[in-house]
Order: sequence, then C-alpha cells, then structure tokens
Amino acid sequence: MSKTPKVLVLGGKGGLLGASLAAVLEKSGRHVAVTGRPGRDVFEAGALEDLLDKLEPDAVFNTWAYTQVDKAEDEPAEARRINEALPALLGRLVQERPCKLVHFSTDFVFDGKKDSPYLPNDPTGPSSVYGETKLAGERALLSLNLPNLLIVRTAWLFGPGKKNFVRTILDLAAERDELRVVHDQVGSPTYTCDLAAWAVALAAKDATGVIHVVNSGRASWAELAAEAIRLAGLPCRVVPIPSAEYPQKARRPAYSVLDTAAFSKATGITPRPWAQALADYVYREAGPAADNAD
Ligand SMILES: NC(=O)c1ccc[n+]([C@@H]2O[C@H](COP(=O)([O-])OP(=O)(O)OC[C@H]3O[C@@H](n4cnc5c(N)ncnc54)[C@H](OP(=O)(O)O)[C@@H]3O)[C@@H](O)[C@H]2O)c1
Repeated sequence: MSKTPKVLVLGGKGGLLGASLAAVLEKSGRHVAVTGRPGRDVFEAGALEDLLDKLEPDAVFNTWAYTQVDKAEDEPAEARRINEALPALLGRLVQERPCKLVHFSTDFVFDGKKDSPYLPNDPTGPSSVYGETKLAGERALLSLNLPNLLIVRTAWLFGPGKKNFVRTILDLAAERDELRVVHDQVGSPTYTCDLAAWAVALAAKDATGVIHVVNSGRASWAELAAEAIRLAGLPCRVVPIPSAEYPQKARRPAYSVLDTAAFSKATGITPRPWAQALADYVYREAGPAADNAD
C-alpha cells in the first residue's frame, strides 16, 4: 500500500496565505501538518530538523515571513532572520531529504520603474528592507541548486482569517463617509484562496524556479478599495491621493504588476480577474453581515 503524501505548511496556522494553503491541501486529501509563527527557538538545537525528521513531509510550503513592511525598516536584523536566514536553513535541511520546497516571495523585490508586467527574470531592485530581505531569501535558496525548489512570487494579498488591506478598508468604510487612498501605486491584487489552489497545482506539475502567481488585471490601492466598498454596498466615497499625501516608512514600487505567462504555461490555468475574486471574498467571507468576518 502506498503511503499518503504528507505536507507541512509553515505558517499554516494563523497565516493569511498559510491558512488557505492548508485548507486547499486538506481538501485534496493530503495529510497536512501546520505550524504557527516561527518561535525564537527555530534556529536552536535542530528544532526545524527535528520537525522534518518527525513528519517526513513530501513537500514543505513555507509561508513564514516577516511581513510588516514598514516595521521592517526599524527591525532589519529581525526581518533578515525570518526572510533570509530561515529559508536558507530550511533549504539546507530539505537538500538532505526527498522533499519538495515551495517558498513564497513578493512583488516588492522590483523597483517599480517598469510600465508593463514584470517577468520572473526581470532585474530586481527592492526599495525597502522587506523587499531586500525577501530577495536575499530567494537568492539563498536558489544558490543551493535544489532539484525540487519552487519560488512563487505573489502580491497584494486579501483573503479570509486575518487582517489584510481589503478587510481594513471595509471596516473603515463602515464607519466613515470618505476614505483617502493611494492611487499612484499599481499592482496585482490577489485572493489567497485562488493563490493557494494555483500554488498547489503548480507544485503538482513539478514546476521549479521562480514563477509569478497572481490574479489577472491591475489596480491601484484606491481602485481596489473602491471596488471592495462597492461590492459591500457601503455608502463611503474613495478619494484617490498620491503617495506623498500618505507617508509610509518603507518605499513601495509605483508599479509591480506581475506577468503570469510562465504559470499558465506550466499549469494550463489562466488566473481569473482580481475583481471577480474580490467579489467572492466580499460576498462570502468579508461582508459586514458575514458571521466569520475577522
Ligand atoms: N500579504 C501580502 O500582501 C503579500 C504580498 C506579496 C508576498 N507575500 C508573501 O506571501 C507569504 C505569505 O504572506 P502572508 O501575508 O500570508 O503572511 P503573514 O500571514 O503575515 O505571515 C505568515 C507567517 O509568518 C509569521 N510572521 C509574520 N510576521 C512575523 C514576524 N515579524 N516575526 C515572526 N513571524 C512572523 C506569521 O505569524 P502570525 O500568524 O503569528 O502573524 C505567519 O506564521 C510571505 O512569504 C510573504 O512575503 C505576501
């Protein structure tokens, strides 16, 4: 009798993407083990090694990351520890095992100066500590030449179970008549439930290297906010503003739409538009009347 494949989702308990990944993998009939955030002991006394030895996973999905983009500017060492050193350690451990590694990265590795969708091999140029440390994590993994390494770059996530941009906008829109939202940053809004299913499909095709996976289309933060508010039926107006009127500690790329041609070629899947995915999120999970709104 063949063994049921076991999958480990790092960050699968409580993580925005991790929770959706765990749900998709469980639904597909796999044995799924999940962890919460990495503890201080993750580097100590072979803790991660012991976990891999105990579970013997066929695949590890790593969603662990230091994701507080502005805070990372004040805590570069901690961001580097989680976004670079941790994937590097994980990569070395996976190298010794018959195990696939699916790691996630970000559109913030790009400088935002392009005006057409970024390809996986386009030159990088992060403008924030978060982007720099995520890129360093990618490079640390790629330098190991693992035969089963897949790095999925994604962007602008919204989804159930955890605070995210769309949830925050809906909460604010329920209390205010007007919201001022940045309109000069354009990217690829992406639904965690779609991304999870597509990352699993990509891994099932034994895809390797760096691949971009996002919903199709493009939007500014103001456009994303306005559409979410419209879908929720809230009487709140969105006023588009330039980034200069909403100063943030970390610089963000002005344009970071990701090209998904390589993903479609590998899987045969064409990502649905972000607005369609947003409608699912707002109606089914994030609307003010939803029971499970977080
Ligand atoms: N969110 C986005 O818009 C976005 C965009 C592009 C790429 N990505 C990438 O997609 C992956 C998943 O992102 P996500 O939004 O699902 O992440 P998340 O929910 O913020 O965090 C994922 C995991 O990392 C832990 N974590 C977060 N910040 C941490 C910190 N400062 N120190 C230690 N652990 C921390 C979380 O623990 P807790 O659950 O306890 O917080 C969780 O276990 C990451 O690789 C991220 O870089 C995300």
